Amino acid sequence: MDPPHVEVLLCRGCCCGTARKHPNTDHEQQEQILVAAGSRGPTTRVRTVGCLGPCSHSNVVVIRPIGTAGQRTWIGRVNTLPRTRSLAAWIEAGADLEDLPEELLRDRFVADLAIRQQAARRAAS
Ligand code: FES
Repeated sequence: MDPPHVEVLLCRGCCCGTARKHPNTDHEQQEQILVAAGSRGPTTRVRTVGCLGPCSHSNVVVIRPIGTAGQRTWIGRVNTLPRTRSLAAWIEAGADLEDLPEELLRDRFVADLAIRQQAARRAAS
């Protein structure tokens, strides 16, 4: 089996993944669904990380290619079960970076340089 070529970072920091900030989101279920999808999807690794920086977009997910200098995709407001399932289905279907679900791309954002550097440190730890 080939090693994963895509990594999905699921933020579980001070805002993402907390009932305090998002009381109507089942964060445990979200994590279970995405981690399970990663274990079934042959091309993708899913892992949780601490605060990535852009908390106003929580819950934040970063999708990044592994082993290449390809661009990271930042997606915010992954707070509902349908959006979580959409991301999980994409992971299980092979995580084609050119074919991210439209409903997730609607909340795609560009993180500034300091945020991207912070996220890179988190991803490396
Ligand atoms: S807690 Fe997720 S970006 Fe800060």
